[in-house]
Amino acid sequence: MRRPRSWSTETRIKALLMAAAIGLTSLTVGTALTQGFLERVQEARILFDNTRSAAENLRADRTEVLLQTLAPSWREVSPGQSGEEIKSADGMVRRFSLDRTAILTALVYHQRYVLVVGLIGFLVAVELAVFLAYSLTRPMKILAWGCEQMRSGRWVRLPPLSRSPYELEALHEAFNEMVDNLQQWQDFQKEAARVERLAALGSVAAAVAHEVKNPLASMRIRLDLLRRGISPQDAEHLAVLGSEVDRLNQTVSQLLTYARPGTPLFGPVDPGEILTWTEQMTASSCRAANIRLLREVEADCPSLWGDAQQLKQVLLNLTLNAVSAQPGGGRVILRAFRHRNGIALSVTDEGTGIPAELLERIFDPFFTTRPEGTGLGLSIVHRIVGGHGGTVSVDTSPEGTTFTVILPATSAEQDKER
Ligand SMILES: Nc1ncnc2c1ncn2[C@@H]1O[C@H](COP(=O)(O)OP(=O)(O)O)[C@@H](O)[C@H]1O
Ligand SMILES: [Mg+2]
Repeated sequence: MRRPRSWSTETRIKALLMAAAIGLTSLTVGTALTQGFLERVQEARILFDNTRSAAENLRADRTEVLLQTLAPSWREVSPGQSGEEIKSADGMVRRFSLDRTAILTALVYHQRYVLVVGLIGFLVAVELAVFLAYSLTRPMKILAWGCEQMRSGRWVRLPPLSRSPYELEALHEAFNEMVDNLQQWQDFQKEAARVERLAALGSVAAAVAHEVKNPLASMRIRLDLLRRGISPQDAEHLAVLGSEVDRLNQTVSQLLTYARPGTPLFGPVDPGEILTWTEQMTASSCRAANIRLLREVEADCPSLWGDAQQLKQVLLNLTLNAVSAQPGGGRVILRAFRHRNGIALSVTDEGTGIPAELLERIFDPFFTTRPEGTGLGLSIVHRIVGGHGGTVSVDTSPEGTTFTVILPATSAEQDKER
């Protein structure tokens, strides 16, 4: 059974503040009215006493005008009713009683401005109560909303608070920090699961690749031997066979590079030299695809710290991808420049970009969208750069893609930075 919902904090604060406003207004107005009333009653009594003393020395027919001054505080009562007496010199007695209602009515009329101000004060207090209750409970409501979102598995950060009590601001900050930490932890778990999966896959792949590589080499030699003394038609078949064997060999080599990249041999590496080597290696592919390759090396770009062979492989893979991304031709720009975390090497193309839904998977081994692809190029890049303590990032749009690799500078450079 669902428990009936109790009053919300906002309603409680409103009720409390409004009760306080009503109490305060009634107290002020009440005190003012009571005091005024008592004063008027006292004045009426003094007037009565004075009138009585004056009337005692006058004849009844002369007292008329004098007695009229008692109104409206005093009302004459009919003979026989109780009241305070006024006796004239000739023994005539008239009785009067204090008219409290008339005194109060006159007082209210006289104090009408005070009452209006009191009413305005009350309305302002109510407005204030509503505003205060809203502004005090809003951060709590946002917090409750955030917790609800988290419970249903959506990561949300709370918007920054302004002009709220500092405890609530601290609570919001703590909530946001908690969300960040949880998210980081989840990312870390995902990455750990990925690394574990890849490690298992890698060792199987390495074993298979190793087994396949030797028979492939032997097949290649036999093919070359067979080529002698055969008809041109058979030679064509053999050429096709040969190129298929080469392709298999390339895949297997890539697989081995991926699975066993080997321990990097670290040393200072000139970024310009890596770009030049890549340019030379891809020159013919670029020409075939009608692509203009540009190289931009920042002046005095410092050396980086890494394994030159492995880093050449990284740039080669990225550049080949950039070439494949532009079947109709275009430009590919290789850059080397300083970055606050070390040295950056980037490859930019003018292809159609990578769809958002594929971005998460492009670094997975065997993920490819190309019929002739192996899906290992970027996995190798990721692994090598990771082994160097660097990072790879992708910036892609329908106008083109840039892969940026950031690697540590040489220790001499790092010392200089410090
Ligand atoms: N520069 C790029 N532009 C567009 N897509 C790219 C680019 N680089 C990589 N990709 C995508 O990432 C996938 C994986 O790349 P990669 O690991 O090198 O494998 P492969 O090149 O064998 O397909 C590619 O199939 C392609 O879909
Ligand atoms: Mg590739």
